[in-house]
Amino acid sequence: MQDVLVFRRVRAVDPGRQLDAEIDVVIEKKLITRAGPRAADQLIGSVPNDRIRVIEVPGALLLPGLVDLHAHLREPGQEYKEDIASGLAAAAAGGFTDVCVMPNTRPVNDTRAVTELLVHKARAVGGTRLHPIAAITVGQKGDTLTEMADLKEGGAVALSDDGRCVTRSDVMRRALEYASTFDLPIIQHAEDHALTAGAEMHEGGVSTRLGLRGWPRIAEDVIVARDVLIAEYVKAKYHVAHVSTMGSVRILREAKSRGIPVTAEVTPHHLLLTDQKLIGYDTACKVNPPLRETEDLLALREALADGTIDCIATDHAPHSPLEKDCELSEAAPGMIGLELCLPLMLGLVEKGILPMGRMVEALTRAPARIVGLDAPTIAEGAPANLTLVDPNREWTVAPERLRTKSKNTPFMGHTMKGMVLATIVHGSIAFDATAKGC
Ligand code: DOR
Ligand code: ZN
Repeated sequence: MQDVLVFRRVRAVDPGRQLDAEIDVVIEKKLITRAGPRAADQLIGSVPNDRIRVIEVPGALLLPGLVDLHAHLREPGQEYKEDIASGLAAAAAGGFTDVCVMPNTRPVNDTRAVTELLVHKARAVGGTRLHPIAAITVGQKGDTLTEMADLKEGGAVALSDDGRCVTRSDVMRRALEYASTFDLPIIQHAEDHALTAGAEMHEGGVSTRLGLRGWPRIAEDVIVARDVLIAEYVKAKYHVAHVSTMGSVRILREAKSRGIPVTAEVTPHHLLLTDQKLIGYDTACKVNPPLRETEDLLALREALADGTIDCIATDHAPHSPLEKDCELSEAAPGMIGLELCLPLMLGLVEKGILPMGRMVEALTRAPARIVGLDAPTIAEGAPANLTLVDPNREWTVAPERLRTKSKNTPFMGHTMKGMVLATIVHGSIAFDATAKGC
């Protein structure tokens, strides 16, 4: 690799610096050394050609590196769906420099040994950085707290029982108190399982018509409301995973207005799809929490735009045909997301639904802040963590184009507008499709 990498005449967007301008960005020795209008002009003339690489794609956007708070990479235990190497490759191809991985593996990541295994394997793979999220309770069973100090020392950046809800109030109280002493956020999968037993989709008009068992909004709302009260009482950081209901939005908005330290994420699929997609019994559209109704989708979009929902997270949930080519009731919930997230979100920006700056913040600084990572930024002297994307380039989602091992997405065959061209992790190129773009 050359010593100097230049992104020339890119539209750089970094809401943390109120930056949205056409500039040159120069990377040397892992750092951004210059960032400004025509900042590379002199350099390009003076550095020998074999020592400098200049990437210039008309109309390209340069963003701080994307951070995903919520992905399932399935290793250890279900490597036929995904493993660390394929998951990190998919993350890099999706523009993510950092990905936080959920602990519902086999075995569950509820010990320092598993946390360290993930860290070591990911370092060996290189490229996009992996940050383990360890379990809140042993075996994600909801009863006994994990050894949080150990998990933090092993590299965990947060705690979650994702896939399962911490339903016991006493356990949630102690988890929040204990985790806050180590400054680890608790991430809740908000679902009152007693209200969702056997559910196949959102409970509403469509589920009634199809004769399918429903997952009512209140199963999420009651947990979020309770947890907000506990977080207020114990003054601890609390984060809600994949918010899906207008009720949760209302509760979060009120909580934030009262200064309670709550944060939340929303997935691309909950921002774009509704329960109508289940009319054809498409198992690719079975997710947990389920796709809701238009009024929820609109509330989620508004909440993301106004900051009530802090960030966008993929909930990348790879499954094989074994878990998806079956009846809806039998199908595993989840869809892949790492390689589709940015194009889908750029679609919301293009339609005027989400301001560009907000989208970038929700995929970079906001998630980084929640798990205590350094916020990526486009500034001289900052580590070079960057994502280059051509917002005008169209491509069609096809199995062979995806790096993830699993192909479970209702967007298969859809044309996306917006293609990731390069992902730079600490100065190194983790993903490079510029040859196709220039
Ligand atoms: O749709 C989902 N899939 N939601 C979850 O909470 C878990 C995830 C998975 O692990 O497949
Ligand atoms: Zn979940």
